[in-house]
Amino acid sequence: MNKPKRYTVTAALIYANGPIHIGHLAGCYVPADVYVRYLRAAGEDVAFISGTDEHGVPITIKAKKEGTTPQAVVDKYYGIIKKSFEDFGISFDIYSRTSKEIHHKTSQDFFVKMYDKGYFDEVTTEQYYDETAGQFLADRYIVGECPNCHNPGAYGDQCEKCGSTLSPTDLINPRSTFSGSKPVMKATNNWYLPLDRMQPEIEKYVNSHPEWKANVFGQCQSWLKQGLQPRAMTRDLDWGIKVPLKDAEGKVLYVWFDAPIGYISMTKEWAEQAGKRWEDYWCDEDTKLVHFIGKDNIVFHCIIFPAMLMAEGSFILADNVPANEFMNLENDKISTSRNWAVWLHEYLEEFPGKQDVLRYVLLANAPETKDNDFTWKDFQTKNNSELVGIFGNFVNRTTVLTNKYYEGVVPEKGELTDFDKQTLETLAQLPGQIGESLRNYKQREALAGMLEVARLGNKYLADTEPWKVIKQDEERVKTIMYVALQITATLSIVCEPFLPFTAEKLRKQLNLEHKGWSEAGKDDLIKTGTKIEEAELLFEKIEDSVVEAQVNKLLETKRQNELEGKEVTPLKPEITFDDFAKLDIRIGKILEAEPMPKSKKLLKFLIDDGLEKRTILSGIAEHFSPEEMIGKQVTFIANLAPRKMMGVESNGMILMAEDKDGSLSLLQPHKEVWSGATVS
Ligand code: 2FM
Ligand code: ZN
Repeated sequence: MNKPKRYTVTAALIYANGPIHIGHLAGCYVPADVYVRYLRAAGEDVAFISGTDEHGVPITIKAKKEGTTPQAVVDKYYGIIKKSFEDFGISFDIYSRTSKEIHHKTSQDFFVKMYDKGYFDEVTTEQYYDETAGQFLADRYIVGECPNCHNPGAYGDQCEKCGSTLSPTDLINPRSTFSGSKPVMKATNNWYLPLDRMQPEIEKYVNSHPEWKANVFGQCQSWLKQGLQPRAMTRDLDWGIKVPLKDAEGKVLYVWFDAPIGYISMTKEWAEQAGKRWEDYWCDEDTKLVHFIGKDNIVFHCIIFPAMLMAEGSFILADNVPANEFMNLENDKISTSRNWAVWLHEYLEEFPGKQDVLRYVLLANAPETKDNDFTWKDFQTKNNSELVGIFGNFVNRTTVLTNKYYEGVVPEKGELTDFDKQTLETLAQLPGQIGESLRNYKQREALAGMLEVARLGNKYLADTEPWKVIKQDEERVKTIMYVALQITATLSIVCEPFLPFTAEKLRKQLNLEHKGWSEAGKDDLIKTGTKIEEAELLFEKIEDSVVEAQVNKLLETKRQNELEGKEVTPLKPEITFDDFAKLDIRIGKILEAEPMPKSKKLLKFLIDDGLEKRTILSGIAEHFSPEEMIGKQVTFIANLAPRKMMGVESNGMILMAEDKDGSLSLLQPHKEVWSGATVS
């Protein structure tokens, strides 16, 4: 499109059913914020819109799990989510909710307009119905046996054990999660969007955007290739926005119908407060609409919502949908149910004031083209070597020297050397390059460009060595520090999209007012005579012990998950009584116990078996000390063929029970018995 007059930038309306973790920040919210902060700095007119998605089955499921109402769930998490975003500097113009009256009305009007235009097909289908609870059942509310892996707890849409996608009718012995009763099939009417008939228009739209990121464009093509299917825009549920038609009792709008309309209703709310016309941001062809989302939302934003907008007819379509892939954590998929995540509220408790460090690391590793990994080790390395070692180091040297030599007053520049000129020329070009990368959604590239400014500064100081030159040529040092201060001032502008808290600190240190992007790179950005503040560190080193604690916390989570997921060993094949009778199991008393030389695992026992003293070796040294075993009664197999281990013959086997966490427990009679007692 030509140069837009304004921008409407949206970030996905996350379900208000849980707190926020780093995957959310990396996938959608930090990228959206970086883009918007840049646009604002570049003087563009932007509306940055987001909020919570408060309808749909994800909310009612959470309510059921927490034993509360859907309303209580959304009220709780709206506050938590909004606060996390504020804490991390996500600079929405509005952060609202789909439970607002204006949103219900906007969605219903949208639906009625499409209905009046004849866009919906009313279709009767058979759906599962719980007669005891008196309600239709969403796929997630039906459980049964998976036809593939026979997991008895598979859901109507998916088996979480084998990962297969299911439909409720695939389940063997389906049951309702409400009453436990067997659901019956019952006819119901719903309104369908005929995406199949709209395919040519949608295809034209998608194909007019070959510049979209390859992952986004590719996913759209794959949907189109499969052939679009009609999709129900209403559901038989009691939580959601009522279908605004007669005879639609007990039906609500499909959550993926109302949620994206939330972008429009929230823009209306914002415009009302900000004294703007919302229509400018949604109905003017010169407005550029950009949706930031995670990759699981691509089809809804690139196919279904555009189809709705085309059908309704009053609105512009997205110019771009820069969806990121997923961010993993320590080589494993982030998962709320397994608590495999770094939660933002916990991060802030453990790293207070370090929001920019997390923003930086998430951006440096942004999953722009493929899934990427967040590791605590890398977090530490990026902080210590890039933020502290390059960015902080340059700013600190410049501010310390300015304070030391000139009591904090920006000196006057003298004649520039060729090297000064060359440095300033490079400086002048970098902001434009960073901006270009940002406009093209290449944020990793842009971030590297920002760090390049600090690198330029470090190189300049290393090459000009003002701390040495000051002894021979004080005049020259004034010019050097003047140039270094210009680089620092530019840094305060170009770091702002990525590191907004740092940018503010830096501006305060430099006593520089908030300047626009076009000022960045100028050679008189911070004027001679400006008094800067005392040097203050922008970043601190993160010690090994701090990241080790984080890794240990995750390891503990993994251990807990393993324990929960651990299953009882399947039974061995059946044996006869005669097989069992062959075993001679007895009780004996340990008389002596000692470690086996050169073995980490083996202990050597001398056991009184009532007849004689026998030696038994047992691989339990990692669980028991020799001292604690002496005097204990143990159960052992007395007629096992002797076996030589490390040169010692073992005559029997001591029996142990292995607990879920791998720890061992001795099998002992519940009261002391005579040595040699048989077990049967
Ligand atoms: O995936 C989610 O959390 C959805 N609630 C996103 C909705 S985005 C938009 F359509 F509102
Ligand atoms: Zn399965």
